[in-house]
Amino acid sequence: MRVVFLGPPGAGKGTQARLLHDRFGLVQISTGDILRENIARGTELGKEAESYMQRGQLVPDELVIEMIEHELAGVRGRGFVMDGFPRTVPQAVALDGVLARRGARLDAAVLFKGNRAALVARLASRWTNPRTGRTYNALTNPPKVAGIDDQDGGPLVQREDDRPETVSKRLEVYDRQTRPLVEYYRKVGKLVEVDALAPVEAVAEKIAAALGAEHARP
Ligand code: AP5
Repeated sequence: MRVVFLGPPGAGKGTQARLLHDRFGLVQISTGDILRENIARGTELGKEAESYMQRGQLVPDELVIEMIEHELAGVRGRGFVMDGFPRTVPQAVALDGVLARRGARLDAAVLFKGNRAALVARLASRWTNPRTGRTYNALTNPPKVAGIDDQDGGPLVQREDDRPETVSKRLEVYDRQTRPLVEYYRKVGKLVEVDALAPVEAVAEKIAAALGAEHARP
């Protein structure tokens, strides 16, 4: 199973990608997490990406495509879910090309649909473990102890790009640069739409059913 997730910031792509990983063993490839890890490690890629991310803009295609080619080389034929890639038409075309060269193709593109006000509210209350990328939500899914990850006891932080002004910019960038992918995947019959505002379990079941995955319940 090879799947990509599309959707605006805060739509729950990371949350659902982690569930697909945990439940069905798909490799989770989260470009946002990989880029943030590169920033934390001070790599060349991290240095180049940082200013774009702080401003809520997309990191240039060539950098992200190279990064994804590297990630896919490590997947070695296993199924994957990409959360955050592709985000532009050139990225989608590049992904199709990389898969074709490996004799593979994408099975589905899942579109998370949700209204702006609800997504902005979610991001304002999101808390993230910067080491693992695991997220909580102060309103809907709080950790047992505020500021501490239930799983590994690590500290939770609010992402810098979750500030209201940066979230606005990210939503604008999504509309302009990523939304065209909806038609790209609809045309080839790969688009699956889910209601991003439904409860986490309901979204997970809808995705599992649409992907034909068995045992959708944990
Ligand atoms: P990235 O980290 O990918 O950010 P994003 O796509 O904006 O998505 P988010 O991580 O903000 O949200 P999400 O949809 O994963 O929601 P989550 O599950 O956390 O990218 C960051 C930046 O990196 C970009 O701005 C760009 O600069 C750069 N970048 C990344 N990829 C790139 C690319 N391909 N090309 C160029 N640049 C790239 O959920 C949000 C909150 O809601 C959480 O608190 C969660 O607990 C809660 N929640 C989730 N689902 C539900 C639910 N169903 N009900 C209630 N609460 C829920």
